[in-house]
Amino acid sequence: MTGTDRERLAAARRDCTVILSGPRPRSMAEVLAGMAGSRYVDGPPDTYGDGGPVTELEERVAGLLGTEAAVYFPTGTMAQQVALRFGAERTGTPAVGLHPLSHPMVHERDAYAALSGLRAVRTTTAPRNPTAEEIAGLDEPIGTLMLELPLRDAGLVLPSWDELVAVVAAARAAGARVHLDGARLWESTPHLGRSLAEVAALADSTYVSFYKSLGGMSGAALAGPAELARYARAWRHRHGGNLYQQWPAAVTALQGLDAELPRLAAYVRHARTVAAALAAVPGARIHPEPPHTQAFQLWLPHPADELNRANLELAERDRVWFAGGWRDGAVPGMAMTEVTVAGPALDLDAAAVADLAGRFRTHLPS
Ligand SMILES: Cc1ncc(COP(=O)(O)O)c(C=O)c1O
Repeated sequence: MTGTDRERLAAARRDCTVILSGPRPRSMAEVLAGMAGSRYVDGPPDTYGDGGPVTELEERVAGLLGTEAAVYFPTGTMAQQVALRFGAERTGTPAVGLHPLSHPMVHERDAYAALSGLRAVRTTTAPRNPTAEEIAGLDEPIGTLMLELPLRDAGLVLPSWDELVAVVAAARAAGARVHLDGARLWESTPHLGRSLAEVAALADSTYVSFYKSLGGMSGAALAGPAELARYARAWRHRHGGNLYQQWPAAVTALQGLDAELPRLAAYVRHARTVAAALAAVPGARIHPEPPHTQAFQLWLPHPADELNRANLELAERDRVWFAGGWRDGAVPGMAMTEVTVAGPALDLDAAAVADLAGRFRTHLPS
């Protein structure tokens, strides 16, 4: 997409009065105004990751996840590098059990190998997190098993609580540590039927993100024992992650914990209603059905170009946003987008979703 296309899309989205997928976009001025009115900016800022909203955020995350400590990172990519390195040093085994669709394997330019000298052992070829049997049956030892909750590129799929407990036990029985990629852990608790702290208690370390469902500017935290936190601060520095001040991102993360975290369970519930309404669209496929979190894959029998064009036309003409970001799949003529149910979609009941889908389809070639 060119810069002009992106601007046209952003402008169309900003003007929409009805939004099915995603949060309502905010201008930078709105974000700044929200921060200016917040108690989090009354005091002094942080310095090199210490003090101010950054420390408050770390304490808040440790409290929510029930861990001794949490360390703020500018990115999850960096946080997970450090967690996996810690596991390798503790166990003396640089092999990490990773899903072939996990973020480090697909989206990080092999940083785990290039920067941290780690080696991936693929845990399964199935489009879901590995089972206990698969971990017990690995051909080679692993120092750390990393589980992505939910596994985003497989359709934001989660294991059941029992499956999760069993796979963690299998890793431990094999002498491995367990690290959770919890970029979207916040919205995983309804499906797992356990609290954030109960989930994090299964693992040796957990990474969470502040800019996905929480709507912050950027940033992540690595939560775990105090010893891991001390190590994480040292390696964050080595990775170039000790920014002089990070309070703007930390403030938006704290605001996300205040405003969005309490609403996520309602989004997850409503995602089932939205998914069921979209499943009735001719040729549509939903995955997973019902959704495990607030987001799910919607597949339609059209090339991505046609679907993206239809969405833009609908947005520009009627100020209605269906869903953007369509990508072609392996099956020619089928494309997929992730539908994310957030605040704006709560206003749409099943009939409104069906109506919106119908309006979207009028912009598609028949
Ligand atoms: C599952 C998962 N893990 C890790 C990351 C990395 O986060 P960051 O963009 O903060 O490096 C992402 C980001 O999209 C993600 O979706």
